[in-house]
Amino acid sequence: MKSSAQQPLRIAVAGLGTVGAGIVQLLERQAELLTLRAGRHIIVSAVSARDRRRDRGADLSAVRWYEDAVAMAADPDIDAVVELIGGADGVALAVVEAALAHGKHVVTANKALMAKHGTRLARLAEQAGLALAFEASVAGGIPVIKALREGLAGNRVTRVYGILNGTSNYILTTMRESGREFAEVLAEAQKLGYAEADPSFDIDGVDAAHKLAVLASVAFGRPVDLDGVYTEGIRHISRLDIDFAEELGYRIKLLGVARLTDHGLEQRVHPCMVKRGTPIAAVEGVFNAVVAEGDFIGRVVLEGRGAGAFPTASAVAADLVDIAAGRRVPTFAVPVAALRDLPGAPMEQHQGAYFIRLMVLDQPGVIADIAAALRDEHVSMEAMIQRGRAPGEAVPVVLTTHVTLEAAMRRALDRIAKLDTVLEQPHMIRIEDF
Ligand SMILES: NC(=O)c1ccc[n+]([C@@H]2O[C@H](COP(=O)([O-])OP(=O)(O)OC[C@H]3O[C@@H](n4cnc5c(N)ncnc54)[C@H](OP(=O)(O)O)[C@@H]3O)[C@@H](O)[C@H]2O)c1
Repeated sequence: MKSSAQQPLRIAVAGLGTVGAGIVQLLERQAELLTLRAGRHIIVSAVSARDRRRDRGADLSAVRWYEDAVAMAADPDIDAVVELIGGADGVALAVVEAALAHGKHVVTANKALMAKHGTRLARLAEQAGLALAFEASVAGGIPVIKALREGLAGNRVTRVYGILNGTSNYILTTMRESGREFAEVLAEAQKLGYAEADPSFDIDGVDAAHKLAVLASVAFGRPVDLDGVYTEGIRHISRLDIDFAEELGYRIKLLGVARLTDHGLEQRVHPCMVKRGTPIAAVEGVFNAVVAEGDFIGRVVLEGRGAGAFPTASAVAADLVDIAAGRRVPTFAVPVAALRDLPGAPMEQHQGAYFIRLMVLDQPGVIADIAAALRDEHVSMEAMIQRGRAPGEAVPVVLTTHVTLEAAMRRALDRIAKLDTVLEQPHMIRIEDF
């Protein structure tokens, strides 16, 4: 008789879309390698999706098909459930809860689910002695969770940040390279399949916020706090902003940043000006990157493909190998009861430098009025650029500030917006110092 260590790990895959089909194909093509690495076979025993007739790019004729993914999660002949349906609630949540309730390990690529229910699900898994693995949920194929949780276990992380949404990065990169406006580039990205028909999750920073909340939890050993993530997207970024950024030596990137401050943990997703020449500025197109700063290691940069069938399947496979090999670590690096009650720092307390773009009437006294508003709020200006001269007409003016308090910056901008000579709502982009 075989010892239990040699029994295969029998998995059920819930959802056979982009990632689900990818993992089924990976498990087939890499079977030998995975068996060597896991010490036993990993086999797909059951699958569930909506449409049974659809071609999934793999032979599933010998695999049990379930119409009901939640019922599949209770199948007694399954050891682990891979949830690849998506969505913070609904079927995906029901599948994960059913799997944990029936003693199955869980692997998921679902950041929305982890951001909303991660702490509670981690507790359920821990109580049942099961794995809840989610490498694929943050930055797709890049092994950031494992790097932070295990590779950097000897460090206190002080800051973690990254480009966590490939669609936004593709749009910003293409705007800069082609000199086109946001709406046009978004429409093209949708045609190419880089952006969803409803792109709001990507371009409004929601997807990046989900990933940042999960990442911050692992990095700082704190319960997942999605509501504590300040979130701003890229809809308001214009070609002018990108051109001025270039002129000043910056690139504009949608970043997720989590850092320890005197006021607690800051979690924020918003467009940032980053100095050209920094590793993060060089991450272009659909690529993602995560940078972690630790007290003993210094800076670690991880870059790669943050989405797509095979990169994401690569991350799912790594979780499955850990489970099959019996390697267990607490979901968020420490047991749920040991997660720290670290307060969240409000965005008003953020200290940083700012890029401000204004459209003003070119007439005497305008700049003096703007400077007075900044002075009154104790915001110190670093540089100012006025593009062209057109007396009596609208001209763009750009200024950058020294490090200042976000609340003061906002008050100054409110005053500037009310000036008769300021023709549009001021554009503000935070400058990140890396
Ligand atoms: N796509 C990526 O590159 C990527 C990267 C990282 C993480 N993720 C995450 O991975 C997850 C899956 O994403 P995806 O892009 O693979 O999604 P997708 O292509 O839309 O696939 C979703 C799958 O779920 C199935 N499904 C929907 N409702 C179901 C139900 N009630 N019961 C059983 N199956 C159901 C669908 O069935 P049918 O095929 O029959 O319609 C489909 O196969 C999401 O959480 C996503 O955020 C995706």
